[in-house]
Amino acid sequence: MSKILVTGGLGYIGSHTVVALQEAGFKVVIIDNLSNASTKVLDGILAISGELPEFENFDLRNKLKTQEFFKKYDDLSGVIHFAASKAVGESVGNPLLYYENNVSTLIYVLQELNKKDNANFIFSSSCTVYGQADKMPITEEAPIKAAESPYGNTKQIGEAILKDTCKANQNFNTIALRYFNPIGAHKSAQIGELPIGVPQNLVPYITQTGAGVREQLSVFGDNYPTKDGTCVRDYIHVVDIAKAHVIALKRLLNKKYKENFEVFNLGTGTPSSVLEVIQSFERVSNKKLNYKIVDKRDGDVISAYADTNKANAVLGWKAKSTLDDAMESAWKWQQTL
Ligand code: UD1
Repeated sequence: MSKILVTGGLGYIGSHTVVALQEAGFKVVIIDNLSNASTKVLDGILAISGELPEFENFDLRNKLKTQEFFKKYDDLSGVIHFAASKAVGESVGNPLLYYENNVSTLIYVLQELNKKDNANFIFSSSCTVYGQADKMPITEEAPIKAAESPYGNTKQIGEAILKDTCKANQNFNTIALRYFNPIGAHKSAQIGELPIGVPQNLVPYITQTGAGVREQLSVFGDNYPTKDGTCVRDYIHVVDIAKAHVIALKRLLNKKYKENFEVFNLGTGTPSSVLEVIQSFERVSNKKLNYKIVDKRDGDVISAYADTNKANAVLGWKAKSTLDDAMESAWKWQQTL
């Protein structure tokens, strides 16, 4: 049976993807340094799938350990690489941490995979690579603009490294998945997002406010040129994202790709404003959310939502959940915390 390495497999998107892989019959080995995750996530995965993935607790910045890992696990069919730091604000204050965590570790993993006869690799990319795109919805052909933050830069650099690696080695096959805004949790509420400290992202902030952990949500700006003045994003259920990884992996394993480096947007294609996300929360929770409008947040793009035609047509994948479905699962998860 095929064994897949999932780096960062105890994190938010990683853990949902581990479950989707297990459901599709793959064996999984996780590498995670627990910097933004907990071994309790293993219990959640076991509760859902009935199967405990193998787990190696180390930091991919340790090049020697990374080399030893790939010597020990010489039978991997594919690698899904989530391990990375993802807080935009933190990346502005500590860029070197982001370049080391997101770029150096990618290189160490690729150096090991590049020694093999054949490598199949899936990269966690982000819609952040587009910056403020000129046209909505955003297609994969939209120009890659100067990154707004070191975090965004690491995703652009990561894609460039992979593109060059694939060009130099025709047996190195990569799919980069550009996530829009992943939200929600597994329907069992056994796994979900576990933000450490004050959440930076909208949905965990909303659910924590709904649960009384936070007093009030600040809505960053209401005079943007959008339908109601608040920023517009493409919020996609994390389980839909997880399933796309399994489909992309099968595409690599079955050699269905046309080029050995491909990129796909993962979004719903539906634009939602911050106020619409709040209304969705209020519908599914039957609660009024305490929020106030404050100044714009530095670095926020006005609008970003996906053209999903390429993923729909080429991968045969489409997001199934609505915003309300995703909010309902996020709220159910919040109530277990
Ligand atoms: C951004 C990136 C995304 C990246 C993520 C990492 C873009 C388009 N998206 O997501 O690729 O993976 O950072 O964190 O660059 N908001 C509030 N109040 C809050 C929190 C958020 O009003 O307390 C608003 C924001 O202004 C924004 C929306 O909610 O309009 C979503 O914000 P957030 O969840 O932080 O995600 P992005 O900034 O879109």
